[in-house]
Amino acid sequence: MSMEKKDTILVVDDEHGVRQSFNMVLKDEYNVLLAGTGQEAIDIFTKNPVDMILLDICLPDSDGLELLEKFKEADPNTEIIMVTAVNEVQTAVKAIKLGAYEYIIKPFIVDDILTVIGRALEKQSLVKEVTYLRNALERYHPFEKMIGKDIKMRKIFDLISTVSQSDGTVLIHGESGTGKELVARAIHNRGPRSNQPFVVINCAAIPATLMESEIFGYNRGAFTGATTTSIGKLEIADKGTVFLDDIDSLDINMQAKLLRIVQEKEFERLGSTKVIKADVRFVAASNKDLEKLISRGEFREDLFYRLNVFPIKLPPLRERRGDIPLLLNHFLELYAKNIGKSPKKFSNEAVKVLTEYDWPGNVREIQNIVERFTTITKGSVIDLKDIATLDMGKREKKDMTLKEAVSAFEKKFIFEILESVDGNRKKAAERLGIHRNTLITKMEKRY
Ligand SMILES: Nc1ncnc2c1ncn2[C@@H]1O[C@H](COP(=O)(O)OP(=O)(O)OP(=O)(O)O)[C@@H](O)[C@H]1O
Ligand SMILES: [Mg+2]
Repeated sequence: MSMEKKDTILVVDDEHGVRQSFNMVLKDEYNVLLAGTGQEAIDIFTKNPVDMILLDICLPDSDGLELLEKFKEADPNTEIIMVTAVNEVQTAVKAIKLGAYEYIIKPFIVDDILTVIGRALEKQSLVKEVTYLRNALERYHPFEKMIGKDIKMRKIFDLISTVSQSDGTVLIHGESGTGKELVARAIHNRGPRSNQPFVVINCAAIPATLMESEIFGYNRGAFTGATTTSIGKLEIADKGTVFLDDIDSLDINMQAKLLRIVQEKEFERLGSTKVIKADVRFVAASNKDLEKLISRGEFREDLFYRLNVFPIKLPPLRERRGDIPLLLNHFLELYAKNIGKSPKKFSNEAVKVLTEYDWPGNVREIQNIVERFTTITKGSVIDLKDIATLDMGKREKKDMTLKEAVSAFEKKFIFEILESVDGNRKKAAERLGIHRNTLITKMEKRY
């Protein structure tokens, strides 16, 4: 006998004889629970894990279809097979539309029900596996982990937890690379919609002319070239979250249309009059100051207020420098893991310089730079001379005073020499004709 856990089947039928014959047929392979009324079925269902329900359509105390909806709502993974008399086949078809797996007609043939049950359970285990794998992927996804111990970030984490439990619209603002998308995903993943889709609409990447069909979908014949019906991102995101990235780039006409959806949660496909409910949560992001755009007439004020129910402002890295060393380590470990090696380290001096750097590209820039060093640095320690090869921290020359320009040149020159002597400071100082201590002071000088 197999050690595998048996699946549990709940049989709901008001006829004692029918219940008993199901029990006879199923009890060897499955755990069987029996209910004679709808109420009894609900009681059993709430108290026991149930993998499948065989549900009589016609019960004395409840309507089979209503019961089906209740069960499906409580646990969409429970497969339900309707049991019906020949004259109720119409209702059975309705049941399938409501999410029943299949219907069988009484009196049933034993082999037939066993086959149907087998198939339903197989489908169910596949669905579970896919869900599990998807969640597992999400869990191991590097994006999941948000690093930050600065009080500003800890406040953001608290905000994410609170906001994720509600369904209100979120507007995330932050410079490029500060983690806006990561925050949007975190809100989705921690909330009640987490098992439903997270759909990104990139307002900057989709041309205005295609935006409408992208978001709403279209019916066949809606416009020249619409040869098939296509569902839009709003429909794909049903019950999940829509992430409106770079919302500031949204064309002003689309802003009006979006406003209607956010307000009324309804829309139609292009070329169709059928109203579709949009059961989605909206999270929007922008790296622009939307209020400034409003004053210039480029962004609708009413849309702004609709979106800005929960504002989240992500601080740039230079306003939370304490997180820089953490992020450096985080990405060192991440990349080492990716390539299956032990992580390199930044020397203390390198960490110091990198912490003082302003990171205009924020976390994304750290990520890119760490990836680059992990690849190009030969030794296990990434030192000042390595990071000096980067053009980072360079300010526009026209903004510099002569003194700053000279010292910037000096620093770059020093690092070039250092590189040519493999980082040997004594040799470099000799080559440059200065004392070793002067070299070190100059290396650490900011410009
Ligand atoms: N606090 C953090 N901890 C760990 N990784 C982070 C953090 N913030 C951002 N990242 C990583 O940095 C990268 C950039 O983040 P993300 O794409 O969310 O930024 P963004 O604000 O949407 O950027 P853009 O404005 O360029 O679209 C991603 O790879 C993300 O995983
Ligand atoms: Mg982004």
